[in-house]
Amino acid sequence: MFAKELDIALDYRAIEAGRDDFARALGAFADGGGVGANVTLPLKQDAFALCASVDDRARRCGSVNTLIRDGTKWRGDSTDGAGFVRDLHARYAFELQGRSCLLLGAGGAARAVAFALADAGVGTLLIANRTHERAHELTTAIGAANVDAVAWNALGHIGAFDLVVHATAAGHDGAPLAVPASIATHALCYDLSYGEAAGPFLHWAKSAGAAQIDDGLGMLVEQAAESFFIWHRRAPDTAAVFDALRRERPLPSDGS
Ligand code: ATR
Repeated sequence: MFAKELDIALDYRAIEAGRDDFARALGAFADGGGVGANVTLPLKQDAFALCASVDDRARRCGSVNTLIRDGTKWRGDSTDGAGFVRDLHARYAFELQGRSCLLLGAGGAARAVAFALADAGVGTLLIANRTHERAHELTTAIGAANVDAVAWNALGHIGAFDLVVHATAAGHDGAPLAVPASIATHALCYDLSYGEAAGPFLHWAKSAGAAQIDDGLGMLVEQAAESFFIWHRRAPDTAAVFDALRRERPLPSDGS
């Protein structure tokens, strides 16, 4: 859709690959003339390992979602964090500067967002994860005074936040979320997933009194636009693409 909008001839299609045949599939793609690729979960760390060089933001979060052919090698970048921040700006005019933020999760999906939040000048960023050690490792990797780990079982005692980002697989199996409502009163609650996977958290957020809820569909579009810009040096208009995708995947705004 971006290519059509900007009148660029582009063949962009899905290639299914698992962790065991990712390197082979990527090699075959390059042999066939492929010059750029997006990589999605669970292959972003594998993509990072396959790159001959990576950009700074990819190096910091150890994850690559954008591949650029550089001679006979791959260069990697990570546009997830930028996509997330841009979505907050584009759809909610949400300024991160000085805000109190809580990130639930410290796995692969959380990492790029954690670094992006820290870089965006938030007032505080707390990271909670079921396995506390992972949250601690992530905050140590970020290494900023206003970023800290908080124990999952302490969530009921730390007050409310401006922004609560859900980046765990909790609820994906349909089980209710074991998170106290007090963190979300008046917050923008954002699930990095979209579609059915975002339903349980957004349902919980609504009933917790969140000011706004959103899923990761806008982030999907914005990270894609950022990748597109890296390849073509032209920035597409994301609004029409977002609207088209949203029509196919409505936000479970009533939590149902
Ligand atoms: P992804 O790349 O999708 O982030 P991941 O790296 O396996 O996948 O991370 C999954 C995240 O969901 C982790 O933060 C995980 O917590 P642990 O580090 O303790 O495993 C979290 N998670 C999965 N199931 C959960 C549950 N039932 N309750 C809370 N957190 C859960």
